[in-house]
Parts: sequence; structure tokens; C-alpha cells
Amino acid sequence: MEIRKVGVIGCGLMGSGIAQVAATAGFETVVREVAEEPLKKGFEAIEKSLAKFVEKGTLTAQQKDETRQRLRGTTSLDDLADCDLVIEAITENLELKHETFGHLDKICKPETIFASNTSSLSITEMMTVTSLERQRRFIGLHFFNPVPIMKLVEVVRTILTDPAVYDEAVRFAERLGKVPVRTSDRTGFIVNRLLVPYMLDAIRALEEGVGSIVDIDNAMKLGCGYPMGPFTLGDFVGLDTTYYIAEIMFNEFREKRFAPPPLLKRMVKAGLHGRKTGRGFYDYTKDPKNPTPMNLL
Ligand code: 3HC
Repeated sequence: MEIRKVGVIGCGLMGSGIAQVAATAGFETVVREVAEEPLKKGFEAIEKSLAKFVEKGTLTAQQKDETRQRLRGTTSLDDLADCDLVIEAITENLELKHETFGHLDKICKPETIFASNTSSLSITEMMTVTSLERQRRFIGLHFFNPVPIMKLVEVVRTILTDPAVYDEAVRFAERLGKVPVRTSDRTGFIVNRLLVPYMLDAIRALEEGVGSIVDIDNAMKLGCGYPMGPFTLGDFVGLDTTYYIAEIMFNEFREKRFAPPPLLKRMVKAGLHGRKTGRGFYDYTKDPKNPTPMNLL
């Protein structure tokens, strides 16, 4: 079965990006949010991002219009019933995901492929609310922020995934213009398995006085050629998200390298969640383009 129509659930940071790249790649796309207000916000982000591509010349004004015509917003899950592929990008809450997939399983075509953009929850646990036949058509498609720019998609299979469905999902990622990597349903997949301990270690290095926020960031940026140092990246991803992923990984593997350091926990409790709350390892409230490091120790 060829994928023609794509449904995206959630029009937040990740969902809006996924819907945008699907529509840009030529797929008829419908994106669902729980209410009109977050849907509107998601579409504003899409408009802004498409405008950037037009400005840069990587997309023509006509391609932008065609993309917009292929993209539709809705507040009803039932509008996703005839999709060939549904990608869930809602809050990382297993109960909510179960509720969503349980409903979709009843209304979608038997051949619809179900995918989750989760970064850390178990795809296997997620699929248990669907029929046995659907479980063979259930995968992970993990995108990276900012979705329109980042080339990677982790394509995740479970022990029950039908190999033909898996290959179709890999082809779908390629049709989006992304680079798919094949991985299995082990918490953190490839990227977070390696990235999370690195980010946590940077926080431990800060706690131990190895270097300042700016010096550790500069060291990794200029010494290793990373686009952002670990603290800038943590603020960008969201420290609440980083903490949440680390907790899940620690619970899964019981290994110290995944344990969130006390400083991270305290920052999250204090509402320092990074860019989205204005403060994290850096303070973005005065000049977001030139943030100043926080005094945290
Ligand atoms: N849409 C369109 N264009 C965008 C965009 C968007 N959403 N976001 C950024 N851009 C464009 C900018 O306009 C700019 O274009 P230009 O070069 O023509 O001016 C270009 O991308 C670069 O952006 P900036 O100049 O603002 O800044 P940078 O050069 O630092 O690039 C970045 C930004 C691409 C985010 C880069 O810093 C980067 O690659 N950072 C690392 C990001 C990363 O590691 N993401 C993964 C996080 S982990 C994750 O998501 C997994 C989860 O499970 C935790």
C-alpha cells in the first residue's frame, strides 16, 4: 500500500513541523489539535517556517501555496479515519496516547499504519491498546527539533512489526527528504541513548566545577564542532523534557549515566525549563539572541 494521506495528531512544536514537512513533500495532510487556539498557534509556526524557506529561495511562493492547500487542520480525530499513515505527536503521557490510539484503532482503515513520535516511551507498550493486526502495523517515527531543518528520522520497529510496513515507513521518511535510520524499540533509541548521558554529564561537570556554563558550551561547540554546546541545547530542547526523558531511561536501565543530576531536578522544580520559560542555563528574558548565563551554583 502506498502512503498518500497523512494524519498528524498534535500541532505543537513537533506535530506542526511533521505536518509541514509531510505537506511540503506532496502528501495530503490533516493535523488534529484538541482546540482551535493551539491549532491556530501551530499553523502560525508553519506559516513562519514556510516563509523562511521562501525567503531563502529553497521553496517558491507557488510551492508554499500548494503546501498550504494540501494541509488541513481539525479538532476531530474522526477526520483522520481515511489516512494511510497516522503520526502521533501529543504530550509524552502514556495514558493519553493509549486513549488516542484506542480510538483511532476503531475508526481507521485496517491497513492504516500507526506511528508515534515519542522520544522515550515504549512503542510496544503503546500499541497494546490496538488490535493484534494493527500491532503489526505500529511503528515509531522519531523526528528532531526543528523538524523542517533536521534531517534525521529514527524509524523504530517492535518485535511484532511487519517487515513490509517497516520498509514502507523507511521509504516514507525518504520521501519527506529526510535521512532515516533503522532502530528497535529500546528506550531512547539511538540518539537519546547517546545524547542524554552526554547532556547529563555536562551538568555534572558544571556541578563539579570543571568549567562554567559558557566555557563548557564553548568547549563542545568549538572543540567538537557541535552546532550548540550542551547547555544551549538543553535550553533549546527544554529542561523539563530532558529531565523527563532521563527519568524514563534511568527507570528502564537502572544505570547511573541516565540518572538526572540534582541541579537539573531543582531547575525543573523552580520553573527554569529553558527557552520556553525564558530562563534555563541562560536567561533569555532581556535579549533572546544574546542570553546571559545564569548563576546556578
Ligand atoms: N523553519 C525554517 N527554517 C528554520 C527553522 C524552522 N523551523 N529553524 C531554523 N531555521 C533556519 C534559520 O532561518 C537559519 O536560516 P539561514 O541559515 O538561512 O539564516 C538556519 O535555519 C539556521 O538557524 P539560526 O541561524 O537561527 O541558528 P543556527 O545556525 O544555530 O541553527 C539549528 C539552528 C538548526 C537549530 C542548529 O543550531 C542546530 O542544529 N542545533 C542542534 C539542534 C539539535 O540538536 N536538535 C535535536 C535536539 S534532540 C531532539 O529533538 C530529540 C528529542 O527527543 C529530545
